[in-house]
Amino acid sequence: MHQLSFRRVISLVILFAALFESSFAAVLAIDYGSDWIKASLMKPGVPFDVLLNKDSKRKIQSSVAWKKDDRLFSTDAANIASRFPSDSFSSLKYLQGAPYDSDVVSYFTSISTAEILKSSRGTVALKQSDGTEWNSEELIAMQFAYIKSLADDLGGEPVTDVIVTVPPYYTQFERDAVADAVEVAGLRTLALINDGTAVAINYAMTRTFTVPEYHVIYDAGASSTRATVVSFAPAEEGKGKSSGTQISVLGVGYDRATGGTELDRRLREILIDNFTSKHKRDIRKDKRGMAKLWKEAGRVKAILSANSDAMSTVESVAFDIDFKAKVTRAEFERACLDLQGRFARPIDDALARARLTLSDITSVILTGGASRTPMIQTAVKAAVGEERIALNVNADEAAVLGAALHGAALSRQFKTKDIRVSDIIAHDVQASYFATAPTPSAKPRTISTLIFPEGTKHGTRKTLTFKRKEDFALWLDYKNIVFPGFPKEILEVQISGVAEALGNLTERGAVDPVIKATVTLSESGFVSIKEAVAFGEIKDESLTGRLKNLFGGGSTGEQVPESVPSAEGSAAEPASTVKPPSKDAKDFKDRSTIPLTVSTSFAPVPPMTVAEKKAGREKLRAIDNKEAAKVRKEEARNTLEGYLYRLRDLLDDGPETPFKKCSKASEREVLSKEVKNTISWLHDEGEQADTAQLWGKRTMLELLEKPITHRYKEIEAFPQALNTSQMWNWSTRLFLTEARDNLTAEAKAGVQSRWTKEELDALEVTLKEHEVWLNDGVEKQKKMKMNDDPAITTAEMKTRAKALEQHLQRLVKRKAPKPKKAKTTAETNGSSNAGTDEPTGSNKQPGHDEL
Ligand SMILES: *[C@@H]1O[C@H](CO)[C@@H](O)[C@H](O)[C@H]1NC(C)=O
Ligand SMILES: *[C@@H]1O[C@H](CO)[C@@H](O)[C@H](O)[C@H]1NC(C)=O
Ligand SMILES: *[C@@H]1O[C@H](CO)[C@@H](O)[C@H](O)[C@H]1NC(C)=O
Ligand SMILES: *[C@@H]1O[C@H](CO)[C@@H](O)[C@H](O)[C@H]1NC(C)=O
Ligand SMILES: *[C@@H]1O[C@H](CO)[C@@H](O)[C@H](O)[C@H]1NC(C)=O
Ligand SMILES: *[C@@H]1O[C@H](CO)[C@@H](O)[C@H](O)[C@H]1NC(C)=O
Repeated sequence: MHQLSFRRVISLVILFAALFESSFAAVLAIDYGSDWIKASLMKPGVPFDVLLNKDSKRKIQSSVAWKKDDRLFSTDAANIASRFPSDSFSSLKYLQGAPYDSDVVSYFTSISTAEILKSSRGTVALKQSDGTEWNSEELIAMQFAYIKSLADDLGGEPVTDVIVTVPPYYTQFERDAVADAVEVAGLRTLALINDGTAVAINYAMTRTFTVPEYHVIYDAGASSTRATVVSFAPAEEGKGKSSGTQISVLGVGYDRATGGTELDRRLREILIDNFTSKHKRDIRKDKRGMAKLWKEAGRVKAILSANSDAMSTVESVAFDIDFKAKVTRAEFERACLDLQGRFARPIDDALARARLTLSDITSVILTGGASRTPMIQTAVKAAVGEERIALNVNADEAAVLGAALHGAALSRQFKTKDIRVSDIIAHDVQASYFATAPTPSAKPRTISTLIFPEGTKHGTRKTLTFKRKEDFALWLDYKNIVFPGFPKEILEVQISGVAEALGNLTERGAVDPVIKATVTLSESGFVSIKEAVAFGEIKDESLTGRLKNLFGGGSTGEQVPESVPSAEGSAAEPASTVKPPSKDAKDFKDRSTIPLTVSTSFAPVPPMTVAEKKAGREKLRAIDNKEAAKVRKEEARNTLEGYLYRLRDLLDDGPETPFKKCSKASEREVLSKEVKNTISWLHDEGEQADTAQLWGKRTMLELLEKPITHRYKEIEAFPQALNTSQMWNWSTRLFLTEARDNLTAEAKAGVQSRWTKEELDALEVTLKEHEVWLNDGVEKQKKMKMNDDPAITTAEMKTRAKALEQHLQRLVKRKAPKPKKAKTTAETNGSSNAGTDEPTGSNKQPGHDEL
């Protein structure tokens, strides 16, 4: 029985999955790095791989730029940075959720030539040279939308759901910035996933773990270095055996100031120093020069990865000076000396937080573009031992592929390997509130309670219980400054309606009602308070209630399970998960909850408001529309241009061409004049002309050209059309002769015929009409010259032949009537097969044919 219903549930689940699959089964994964974006589309029928950009590249540079009016992405955008240093925006990841005054923003200004401003939300906006301002989310949204357009093209329909990787240390502010950019791009955040965790998922996809193993995912990216300690274990599945894997993140470590970008910056400093000392000019003031040296630093760094020295040469770097310098690897490493001890430290930190040591670790998996830098590899090898290094993971793509697999599993629209993921928060989060003042004049004391200590699992909910009589506020904060210049305050929640709700509960007989607020740490690492209730246990004063009370045991003075911060504000920790009410208590008590109003405000770094996101979306749409219009105009222009040259060739070619033979001199003269005029118009005014004008010119020329082309197309098609017409003429004639003969013979024999005389006469009429029309047309056509318009068109010949054919076929296809039985036979034998053998009943009556 149980078995059966269980199966039914399973098959229902599969059915639902199948239903979904047909409607919107696509998940886009984006690994958004500060240098490179990788993306992957998970969609039935699309091979699972990373998304290729328009140049078939597997990674896309995280840049957006404007070359005058043209918006460029990826490499095209990065490449024009030295020409348009104020209109080229890269390394925007640094700005996600960052307060304008934070250290990371001043770092950004040291590597970028972009002009920054303080946004209305206290974050960073960027300004183009023409004065247009964008907040960083909008510029990132453009890149997301660009990725989306690639995915839409690949999948053949628009994708909506996206999963984006974030570094594990990302704060709420930064996570909000990612989710906001996703929304502005017209996508929906299915989830955010920590990048180390995504790599772990990708790693587990092709492996089975029979015993738990611990690994470190070491990710050396452009903007930071991070390490994630994960355990891989067989998934526990009740009694049944499971082939699944449980991935648990046990600890993370990170250095937000060490990464590929910092190495580039140090290298550029070497180049700048050399330039300054040699040429005594301040290149730092020259944006183009700085942008050129930035690109050069990246190039030289790559050379130094494989060589002990590199020659740097930049033509006309600034002040018309050609720059030339030799940089040695030793020199570069000396400039990075202070960083070397920091490369491997995230591994130690992550291990310490996981309460593990290196000896517990099976392997250290290296990922991230900067993990190929010899300096970093050497440092990590020295720290963990070369034998532990695993290089068998695709350093660039493991995170995005893992994210896509996770997104597919979350969307529940795909059958994926059973991989369960448990991730953690990297920072202590506390809840704070004012203690109720002992006297009205006393200054309220703030009570803070650690609610999600660093290492708390994503997906945790906690309930805070308060003895409050009035509305009150609650704050969620980071316990410590998590990043210089970032606020601690995450959000403030106002809980209102308390007095009324408590009044209600008390009136109904509740004992010591309390306020409960539920704090959630989501799977994507966001904290929030969405729900608060007044809660009380109401004594059942009815007779049955009292009887139950008497016999059911249980004390009437049962404690509220949660510890309660007292009105005086004792240090008691209120955090505790909600326990389901015990069964006994339920029997005699009515536990009643009344929802309270919860309003959240964000300060001092709020995420974008709905209105701001909508406005951002409109701005992006406006650009898209402008670009689409431009593409259409370009197309109209190209089409017109191509057409003009084709016409010119037709007019210029020798006298024996069909075009010449089929046109009159006067026609060619007019056309030639218009072609000349239009070519010069296109040259002089084509730039300013709008799409409609361009198409208009084309239509005007077509009106002159089409009739000529039509003539020789008709001449070509005529013999075949005539043949067809004659064939049906001839077939019909043949049929009619024979059918009339048969009709006569059958009438004589008293046998029923397939057709009536009237039907044959009607066909004859159609045939005659056709013949007359055709004869007439052919006669006229014979007299026509090649450059005259044809007397009859092949299209009409076809239509008329078709009509004749159909008329004929209707009669030909008619079934022969069943031989009519003699009346006497019918009488004696009729009853046995009445209704099934009526001679005319099932046949169509003459004249009732479909027409
Ligand atoms: C700059 O580079 C040139 C060429 O490699 C070298 O001769 C010179 O000593 C360097 N100057 C400084 C200050 O590093
Ligand atoms: C208490 O609240 C409940 C539901 O919220 C409502 O039905 C009831 O009328 C209220 N009672 C009082 C006394 O306000
Ligand atoms: C007409 O059609 C017949 C049969 O399809 C073919 O044999 C004949 O060559 C055609 N004649 C012309 C002029 O196309
Ligand atoms: C005329 O009758 C003959 C002999 O029954 C038959 O073969 C032929 O198909 C008939 N033709 C038409 C057009 O009905
Ligand atoms: C139609 O067919 C008849 C008999 O086959 C023939 O005499 C006549 O010339 C044909 N008409 C045309 C226009 O082909
Ligand atoms: C009824 O008709 C069938 C053939 O249609 C014939 O074999 C049979 O003899 C007939 N029966 C009578 C009673 O006429």
